[in-house]
Amino acid sequence: MAQYDVIIIGGGPGGYNAAIRAGQLGLKVACVEKRGTLGGTCLNVGCIPSKALLHASEMYEIARKDFAGIGIDVDAKLNLPQMLKQKEDSVGALTKGIEFLFKKNKADWIKGAGRIAGPGKVAVVAEDGSEQILEAKNIVIATGSEPTPLPGVTIDQKQIVDSTGALALSAVPKRLAVIGAGIIGLELGSVWRRLGAEVTVIEFLDRTIPGADAEVATAFQRSLTKQGVVFQLGTKVTGAKTAKSGVTLTVEAVAGGGAQTVEADVVLVAIGRRPYTEGLGLETVGIVPDKRGFIDTDHWATSAPGVWAIGDVTHGPMLAHKAEDEAVACIERLAGKAGHVNYDVIPGVIYTWPEVAWVGKTEEELKTAGVAYKVGKFPFSANSRAKVNHEAEGFVKVLADATTDRILGVHMIGPQVGEMIGEYCVAMEFSAASEDVARTCHPHPTRSEALRQAAMGVEGWTMQA
Ligand code: FAD
Ligand code: NAI
Repeated sequence: MAQYDVIIIGGGPGGYNAAIRAGQLGLKVACVEKRGTLGGTCLNVGCIPSKALLHASEMYEIARKDFAGIGIDVDAKLNLPQMLKQKEDSVGALTKGIEFLFKKNKADWIKGAGRIAGPGKVAVVAEDGSEQILEAKNIVIATGSEPTPLPGVTIDQKQIVDSTGALALSAVPKRLAVIGAGIIGLELGSVWRRLGAEVTVIEFLDRTIPGADAEVATAFQRSLTKQGVVFQLGTKVTGAKTAKSGVTLTVEAVAGGGAQTVEADVVLVAIGRRPYTEGLGLETVGIVPDKRGFIDTDHWATSAPGVWAIGDVTHGPMLAHKAEDEAVACIERLAGKAGHVNYDVIPGVIYTWPEVAWVGKTEEELKTAGVAYKVGKFPFSANSRAKVNHEAEGFVKVLADATTDRILGVHMIGPQVGEMIGEYCVAMEFSAASEDVARTCHPHPTRSEALRQAAMGVEGWTMQA
């Protein structure tokens, strides 16, 4: 029976980073993954393929709509098979990269479905049905999440798809209905709108991107509406009927009123994700997930000695970088080191046009907590680089403690803000005051100057607006 210091179940950003860190620390480690490739949801059907399509579709739209204005005449035509192929090529190269990193760090990839088979034991069933039992001093659960189903709207991955299906549509639907105005709905809705679909987003709540700062969410919805996305907020879907000609959704206003219908060629269900622990044998070590299926942990240790949990399967934002940070901290802890994750500084990014990025507390959260704060704001319309690039939409908002000036939250909407939020993550990790950023020299002309100007705005000495 093979024996390990640590066996990780699941090879996504949580699992593969845990395996690599364990290898680096000299632990004997195996990672059990049932998918044919490493990288989990993120690399195979999540972050990476969605960003590949967001980038390509953005280029297509820019070529069609913006090139002429800057003096480039082209006749841009969509080649969807090639667009999908370059996405798959990137996914293939990156998942292979993880295999390479496993070899480099002496982490074994055990192919098959893993199941906890009592304390210190993991059973692995390979594709051919054969089973082996492995022994480990520690087991890390990193089995991730899956799309939350919507009763009455059954996924067939052709006419009614989840995010995985929406990453691989073989033709641009004429009408795409998206259920859920969250991150997946608006990212993938953007992809297909740019490629030619008429997109209608149906959302239960009376706002988009719940959890994000409300002022940013309002500006974001306005921008997407201008781009042609139709929003039906405060609306619930009560059923779906498929026919050759398309899908008929029945919808109802949450506030009451009669049933209506929405016709679509393809429906994307994107109402959230839920933790995935099916067939994991949690009962063999006495772990009981909470009501929503999440595994409770204390610094990544579960209630069962020697069993740990990280990533989407535990509480907190369902984000790849959160899973990665937990992976490193968990392995460091089980190796006797001081693993740490700062949950106050986990950024969020929506990779649409414009992008949305944030870190720390929203204005709503600060109000609810009764924290006195000051606001500094700066629009990209007053930033020279954004202006000359004709990308002047959006703003940066910095929230700082009214007494200490410590930065509490930063919320941005605008061109490539996802690439810039890291500056504020570093600042917040160092407990910076807004004045620290305001007095830091930034290169000119760059969009990053808007980040500085917003910090200057906290004390009211913004220069350019
Ligand atoms: P996962 O990545 O889900 O990996 C879990 C792995 O465990 C899977 O490969 C699964 O096959 C395997 N597994 C499960 N059970 C078993 C078992 N019993 N035996 C063996 N293997 C098992 N996050 C971001 O930060 N940025 C983004 O831009 C982003 N974009 C996204 C876009 C989409 C369309 C989706 C769906 C998600 C996106 N996410 C993004 C979220 C991100 O993918 C997840 O937060 C992240 O993958 C979670 O990592 P994880 O390791 O916890 O789980
Ligand atoms: P989400 O939680 O972001 O949004 C789901 C939306 O659906 C919410 O607005 C919710 O109110 C709505 N909703 C729920 N039930 C509904 C119903 N019955 N009818 C209509 N609307 C309903 O979830 P989403 O978009 O599915 O994404 C899941 C997770 O994946 C995200 O929360 C995020 O953690 C991760 N992700 C991250 C990305 C990024 O970092 N760029 C990209 C894509 C996904």
